[in-house]
Amino acid sequence: MSGPYVEQNAHIVLPKTDHDELSRQHFVRSFKEHIVESLHPGLRLAYEKRARPKYLAKHQHEPNTIQEVADAMKPDQHYQAWSSLLRTSQEMMWSSTQIPVERAINDLAASSTDQMTLGSLNLNPELKIPDYHTAVDIHCQPGGYHTEYIEGDVAQGAIYDRAVYLYAMGQMGSNNADMGDSTVAWLKQTHPEFSPTRILDMGCAVGHSTLPYADGYPEAEVHAIDVAAPMLRYAHARASAMGSTVHFSQQNAEHTEFEEGSFDLVVSHILLHETSSAAIKNVIKECFRLLRPGGWMLHVETPPYEGMEPFDKFLFDWDSENNNEPFWRKSHQLDLEGLARDSGFSRETLQIMVPSAFQETQRTNTFQGGDFGGGGVWFVYGCQK
Ligand SMILES: C[S@@+](CC[C@H](N)C(=O)[O-])C[C@H]1O[C@@H](n2cnc3c(N)ncnc32)[C@H](O)[C@@H]1O
Repeated sequence: MSGPYVEQNAHIVLPKTDHDELSRQHFVRSFKEHIVESLHPGLRLAYEKRARPKYLAKHQHEPNTIQEVADAMKPDQHYQAWSSLLRTSQEMMWSSTQIPVERAINDLAASSTDQMTLGSLNLNPELKIPDYHTAVDIHCQPGGYHTEYIEGDVAQGAIYDRAVYLYAMGQMGSNNADMGDSTVAWLKQTHPEFSPTRILDMGCAVGHSTLPYADGYPEAEVHAIDVAAPMLRYAHARASAMGSTVHFSQQNAEHTEFEEGSFDLVVSHILLHETSSAAIKNVIKECFRLLRPGGWMLHVETPPYEGMEPFDKFLFDWDSENNNEPFWRKSHQLDLEGLARDSGFSRETLQIMVPSAFQETQRTNTFQGGDFGGGGVWFVYGCQK
């Protein structure tokens, strides 16, 4: 990798691996590095030298849309090899992280419970898991975020913690915290006077992006919600093990139980693209309801397609068709300004690229299909109430 080799922080609830399990995970990481560093650059060459000229000769015009670039690229052997290996690496990432968790599932649940000393955890077994999470195994994680195998299960969270590190090849830092760290750094630099007293992280998963807010604003009360109980149990144990006080609860970001006007800052990190056309409207409306006047809504995502070259759009859209991400494409083509307006916001929206706080990342600022972890920048969409 062009950046340094970053090991994951071996906090106390991270699943332990034996020699073979660790070798397998190292292989998955190196395999992905090979795909990203050695095979990915050949895609543009294949497009310019073979796919585009063939398309031009046949259609007498440039490929302009995702579908037209797809028509040009999908028959190309280099594209087929890259795409097939990338999908394989994604499946291997999940199986290599599942094996040590399955082996120790009971011990992991017990040791996580022991760690839950700081903050709080409120689960709601009656909460309906949204259809957009039960309909598919999102990004090919078997069982998605919410499936539980034993009582007090943390398995899906434990798997996710390690899988995100492998997915990003360490380029989101040793705590996979780059999205939260980068947003906090940006907020402190651009709004040094902003001093939130209550912060909410929506769709927190295992809290990778939540802890930077607890660390960055130690005076604030930090809340984090998710629909998936195994994520929240693990998140609570992980936060406590890392010395952070966060209040976790099982709630749907579309309609929470918090009081109107009860937060100064509402954030999310790669939540929106995993919802649906109806849900995203509800989430933004809920942000408006939850904020006090002057409070900020900030959503960290990968950048919209607008302004990208058709070829880049096509590659970046890989997840839509190959990685069980049914809302990916639509979520990258939204009218974000209109979405904020329709939800009650009246100030100008923020739609900016925020630099990665993980300075060691030496990437190109290019988002690639199947690899957005170390792009070197994050897209932030938001608005002040
Ligand atoms: C990609 S993960 C988020 C990762 C996390 N924010 C981070 O930065 O590491 C998406 C998370 O959002 C949760 N989620 C999806 N829809 C939700 C909703 N409507 N309300 C609350 N959580 C939701 C999922 O269960 C999952 O844990």
